[in-house]
Amino acid sequence: MHTNIVTCTAPVNIAVIKYWGKKDEKLHIPLNSSLSASLDQKDLKTTTSVVAGTDFTEDELWLNGKKENVESKRIQNVLRLIREGSTVEWKDDPNYKLRIVSTNNFPTAAGLASSASGYCCLVYALAQLYGCRSDLSAIARLGSGSACRSMYGGWVAWEMGRDHESSVAVQVADEKHWPEVQILVCVVSDVQKHTSSSDGMQQSVRTSKLLADRAENIVPKRMEEMKQAILTRDFHTFADLTMKDSDSFHACCADTQPPIYYMNNVSHHIVSLVQSYNKKVGSNKVAYTYDAGPNAVLYIADEKHMVEMLKLLHIYFNPSEGVQRERPFFDNEYLLAKMSTL
Ligand code: DP6
Repeated sequence: MHTNIVTCTAPVNIAVIKYWGKKDEKLHIPLNSSLSASLDQKDLKTTTSVVAGTDFTEDELWLNGKKENVESKRIQNVLRLIREGSTVEWKDDPNYKLRIVSTNNFPTAAGLASSASGYCCLVYALAQLYGCRSDLSAIARLGSGSACRSMYGGWVAWEMGRDHESSVAVQVADEKHWPEVQILVCVVSDVQKHTSSSDGMQQSVRTSKLLADRAENIVPKRMEEMKQAILTRDFHTFADLTMKDSDSFHACCADTQPPIYYMNNVSHHIVSLVQSYNKKVGSNKVAYTYDAGPNAVLYIADEKHMVEMLKLLHIYFNPSEGVQRERPFFDNEYLLAKMSTL
């Protein structure tokens, strides 16, 4: 028997300029560039082990203890490209079978997209195992678009590009660049989302004129302004752009036929709370952003405002206080995170 084993970890990332829509469904070339922060792996991460051995009878994939379909198109595309860039002599030897075991350290209840950290981690681990020299963010993109951004720590842009080689992630600033910034994940609901990101964005591309306008006329300028705000640590502008982009993405979802609504009442109450708070303190100290689900992710200027925000959230949303007691409510669970590196 001959076995090789590699174990890696990868971070979750939360976009402040959203990716929504593909220009090329097969290659996962997006309609627009996007930008995110990778979270500290102490808080939220995926761990993946990959083993290649001659005494396994077939390839197997295990996610959080459950056997999954290793034949899926996305997994097979990733494997094909890793093998193409591989330098090991057994790369095409049919006697070698794979065992892939992946787990997340964050509760499923957090409702965070695990596909980004999941595919990033899978690609990185396979690349170590196969000695693959290709751009790994491009390969992770074929697993799940947003996964390419988890390949780096800190602030990361996914430049949309034109083809497989040019649609890659690049680091805008590393995790030490803006250490004051805090990230708070507010769990509003752990119910599985009704429309997956992939299906939702396909429907939006087909039916929403607003999305076409967003991709063409709004995001390019916003990407540049966002990079500038991050590089100059201008939190007020950063927060303004982050909230505008989340609003614009959800407006495109509402403009889709049939409309898609990912945010619920509690999500909207959090938007109001953040807006009132920023007004009260006189500038943006907190920014909300929502992905394809109701959970809020708050970017907060520093620890002082994080503490104040947590107090407010407890007063207004703690189920035991009953102030916003409606379903679904917070599970009384807030996840704190910081920036990370891979
Ligand atoms: C709303 O990366 O999950 O989180 O490429 O089809 O796998 P696929 O989609 P995915 O979409 C993520 C969408 C988003 C915004 C973002 O992370 O930029």
